[in-house]
Amino acid sequence: MGFNNLFRKKSALKDSASESEHGSMNKVLGVRDLTFFGIAAIIGAGSFSSMGEACFKGGPGVILLFIICAIACGFTAMCYAEFASRVPFSGSAYTYAYVSFGEVFAWIIGWALLMEYSIGNIYVAFSWSGYFTNLLDGCGLHLPEWLTTNYTSAHQAFLENKPGEGSTAWNMAPQLGSLRIIFDLPAVLINTLITWLVYTGVKESRNLSNIMVMIKLAIILLVIGVGAFYVDIDNWTPFMPNGFTGVMGGAAAVFFAYIGFDAVSTLAEESKNPQRDLPRGMIYSLIVCTIIYIVLSLVLTGMVVSSQLGVSDPLAEVFKLRGVKWMLFVVSIAAVVAMTSVLLVFQMGQPRIWMSMSRDGLLPKKFSAIHPKYKTPGFSTIITGLVVGVPLLFTDEKFVLDFTSIGTLFAFVLVCGGVLMLPKKEKEEIQSTEKRFKLPYINGKWIVPVATVLVAVLLWTYNSEFVLAQFNINSQNAANNIPMLVFFALCFVMAFLSFLKNLSLIPVLGVISCCYLLTGMAASNWIWFFVWLLIGLVVYLCYGYKKSKLNTGH
Ligand code: ALA
Repeated sequence: MGFNNLFRKKSALKDSASESEHGSMNKVLGVRDLTFFGIAAIIGAGSFSSMGEACFKGGPGVILLFIICAIACGFTAMCYAEFASRVPFSGSAYTYAYVSFGEVFAWIIGWALLMEYSIGNIYVAFSWSGYFTNLLDGCGLHLPEWLTTNYTSAHQAFLENKPGEGSTAWNMAPQLGSLRIIFDLPAVLINTLITWLVYTGVKESRNLSNIMVMIKLAIILLVIGVGAFYVDIDNWTPFMPNGFTGVMGGAAAVFFAYIGFDAVSTLAEESKNPQRDLPRGMIYSLIVCTIIYIVLSLVLTGMVVSSQLGVSDPLAEVFKLRGVKWMLFVVSIAAVVAMTSVLLVFQMGQPRIWMSMSRDGLLPKKFSAIHPKYKTPGFSTIITGLVVGVPLLFTDEKFVLDFTSIGTLFAFVLVCGGVLMLPKKEKEEIQSTEKRFKLPYINGKWIVPVATVLVAVLLWTYNSEFVLAQFNINSQNAANNIPMLVFFALCFVMAFLSFLKNLSLIPVLGVISCCYLLTGMAASNWIWFFVWLLIGLVVYLCYGYKKSKLNTGH
């Protein structure tokens, strides 16, 4: 096995397989559709569910985290945009890594993106089910707890003797032998419905998605408008009740709320003018959502004290606590609509990534087969439905949330790093292409080292205890310090490389800001992530390495 073969690269200017070889897709999407798709993917379970946990841990200071995440995603979006304008093929970060880092990294990204698209959808489906069940309850239809709770949560609640839905589900569930039948029926059903919709065609999905985006934007504006009347500015103090550590404790939850702008890049082959429209779609949708999130988190933390927000349906909770009953129904409708659109976009994105991987020979041919009638990647779509649907029966929300955020951030770091690695020759060739997005080049030679030293000096001057704590390897939390230490080291390496190689500032800041967010993820989740990567690597060595088109030549 040649070591260098692991890093063989694809050309940025032509895909390894022509579309016609596999059947082409409908080119129907314009910049407005792509922006809507971005918003459809971004605003969902993050704002309606996980935001509660982040506000609970961080207090009103969570706004800082929203800003940090927006900055990290903004830099990353620009790097995605740069790639999207050079490599106008489906596949998202996977394809970009193939061009810049080589095959094994591309595979790893494709494997990590599975977490963003499929595992992320498991969290969204669970949250969807929570709000949908509320709606049904509001209409007087009550589903038994064993049909609205997942098995893991019910078992956990039973073991911990926690009162509530989980325990009730465990105690009331019908049994098959010793097996209790407990599963989240609405989550399973919505996943099946979405899979079918995506299977039958992008045009129909697009129309539905656009309508859903309009509904969710209108209702979120209503929530903000009505909520603003109930804001009590006293609730904004203390600003960070658990300090900055508390704020960073919500990193996975807040970052999850931003995931999705990159899904736009999977629609390259359905876009009328991908080189111009994909970058715009990504950046516009990110800007709209950032503004909404900042205002929304201000309203939420202003309406009640943040310690009351540690629930899975915070937007409904604030209105319940302030006695605005009619808003509960409105919020539940918005949540169901918002999360349906997230499910739809991600369920469309995953098959398109697999399709690209299959065209490159890294997955079996079947994954890139286009349905003759519907013109969608039919087989991949069904497999995606299964990858989301089966774990719905075995996992719980918390685990999938953290897992998704780590996997996605990891992919973002590689995308930003990938822009730094693009071959110079291709940069020049590309410059002749008109009407495409161009990432502004700002020389990081002095800015990055000076900023790194400045931040280090400020940190040392104002918070030397924090810095020393990170280096205290004898402390009980030594394992938790490792990410911060690695981050410090990375900043200095990036500063050194920027000085040496005149690196472009925006991708460098993208790498640094995404790595910073990674320091907020719990150490135990890293272990799971590395196990996941290891499994991916084994699969690649056993299959993709041999079957790759760059290996077989056809
Ligand atoms: N950002 C998406 C959501 O919040 C994943 O549901």
